[in-house]
Amino acid sequence: MKKWPRIIIIAGAVGLALAFALGQLLPNLRTKTSGIEVDITDAQLIKKGEYIARTADCIACHTVLGDEDFAGGLPMLTPLGAIYSTNITPDKETGIGNYSFDDFNNATKHGVRKDKSALYPAMPYPSYQIMPDEDVAAMYAYFMSGVKAVKQANKTSELPPVLNWRWPLAYWQAIFAPERTFVPETDDPVLTRGQYLVEGPGHCGSCHTERGIGFQEVALSNADSEQYLSGAVIDGWRAKSLRGEHRGLGTWSTAELVDFFKTGRTDITAAFGAMAEVVEDSTQYMTEEDLYAMSAYLKTLSPTPGEPVTIVAKEDVTTQKLLDGVYDSRGSILYAEYCQICHRADGKGVPRIFPALEGNSAVYSRDADSVLQITLSGGRMPDTPHDRMAFTMPEFINLSDADIAEVVNYIRNSWTNSASKIDIDDVVQMRHFLSKKPKTATDVAPDLSITAAVQGANRE
Ligand code: HEC
Ligand code: HEC
Ligand code: HEC
Repeated sequence: MKKWPRIIIIAGAVGLALAFALGQLLPNLRTKTSGIEVDITDAQLIKKGEYIARTADCIACHTVLGDEDFAGGLPMLTPLGAIYSTNITPDKETGIGNYSFDDFNNATKHGVRKDKSALYPAMPYPSYQIMPDEDVAAMYAYFMSGVKAVKQANKTSELPPVLNWRWPLAYWQAIFAPERTFVPETDDPVLTRGQYLVEGPGHCGSCHTERGIGFQEVALSNADSEQYLSGAVIDGWRAKSLRGEHRGLGTWSTAELVDFFKTGRTDITAAFGAMAEVVEDSTQYMTEEDLYAMSAYLKTLSPTPGEPVTIVAKEDVTTQKLLDGVYDSRGSILYAEYCQICHRADGKGVPRIFPALEGNSAVYSRDADSVLQITLSGGRMPDTPHDRMAFTMPEFINLSDADIAEVVNYIRNSWTNSASKIDIDDVVQMRHFLSKKPKTATDVAPDLSITAAVQGANRE
């Protein structure tokens, strides 16, 4: 075997050592000393911090279903293994009880831990970075005094060796999450507030913006590019485009958006999957003013380039056939058998109880992941005190791959809807993904009796 020339070995070793040393140093450059003193006993500040933590939805990732709030341990699935969220309760041993305000600020906004190592971007610090120190100070008061301390050790990541080293993450941060400040697009105070909430604490882009090769969001603001909030897939859900085209929010009014964020539904649609959790844990708690600001800002986003601004509605020939009992495709038989009882022959459901499938932009969105996942695994609407009870959709995991594909294609292309088609392979992949996915609050229990009732009745 040919030996490597010594010079290359030495150069390689020196290079790696330098890269390592610089990687250790970089996080230090990101950290800040603010000089801010936070009075963690100030009841008003704690209350303000609680509200801000709601707008930032810290609870979503830092809490395991059925476990104590903020105790961490929720796995974030990556193709290479899970990363776990950490305990951010004020427990001194296992949580962040020993964090000073600056330690907390540096972790939340700059992605640097107290021990000066870099955090994985599974924590959305590239978004939080634009939050003013005063707001993070209020959150600090809340986490130190308003949250119950829970002793629960953190879990180490399942990433394979090398990828679980933290120092290369410092380079990731330098390249993909450089220091960023908030730049208002207009001088309108309401739109500016909305832009801030969407871009910063709301971190809407962490689900609704496509990721690049480095897992970075390809745009962190509308000024960056029109790819911002143009839709992406997260946890097997299509977080659809929030821009102005037809498949985005083109057909939504500002009032409908406010209604959606507050109650988790409109007369047409219902929040499901990852978004049901966002509404349940975060937006339902926001003030009318903040919800209006956010909604008004979203309505200013231009259509995604290349996407149709309007789509001419197809003529509806589905409703009459279903009413007349004309079943001319496998999809129509499956729909009549399993779905029509709730979503109705005209596909319009029952306002605020069963969402419409006709004319619902979540149903004919660019790809079918969301529709596929909810059909297989069901779901529950967000539970809020602002509307009726949270209705559930049963799971249809027992249908064959072929039948799932048929019924999904049927609802995406019936009534006035038109959308791309899926095939059996897509169903197989989604089933495989779902078998590994941790359960969330808005998933339905597998033994939901209505599933048995609907399926049982139909089998006879
Ligand atoms: C999208 C998921 C997500 C959200 C939302 C989120 N976090 Fe995190 N957070 C994580 C993950 C995952 C980690 C661990 C990352 C790692 O180990 O590198 C983390 C780590 C942290 C840490 C570092 C703790 C330590 O061990 O040093 C702090 C502090 C923190 N988060 C605070 C917050 C606060 C405050 C909010 C709300 C403003 C928040 N997080 C929202 C996922 C999230
Ligand atoms: C954890 C991931 C996640 C985050 C964070 C998130 N969303 Fe979503 N969002 C989704 C998914 C998935 C859907 C598709 C499901 C649905 O339509 O209810 C969605 C759907 C939506 C819809 C359309 C609903 C429909 O039925 O057509 C709106 C509007 C929306 N999100 C706004 C926001 C805003 C504003 C934010 C930030 C405050 C945000 N989302 C943050 C995942 C997310
Ligand atoms: C027992 C009543 C019921 C039956 C039967 C039912 N659904 Fe649903 N469906 C719902 C409810 C309730 C929701 C809202 C769930 C949520 O928000 O998580 C929903 C949501 C949906 C959605 C997402 C639309 C949106 O905006 O929320 C799709 C797509 C869907 N159902 C497809 C189907 C298909 C396909 C079938 C038949 C295979 C079916 N449903 C059978 C009650 C039902």
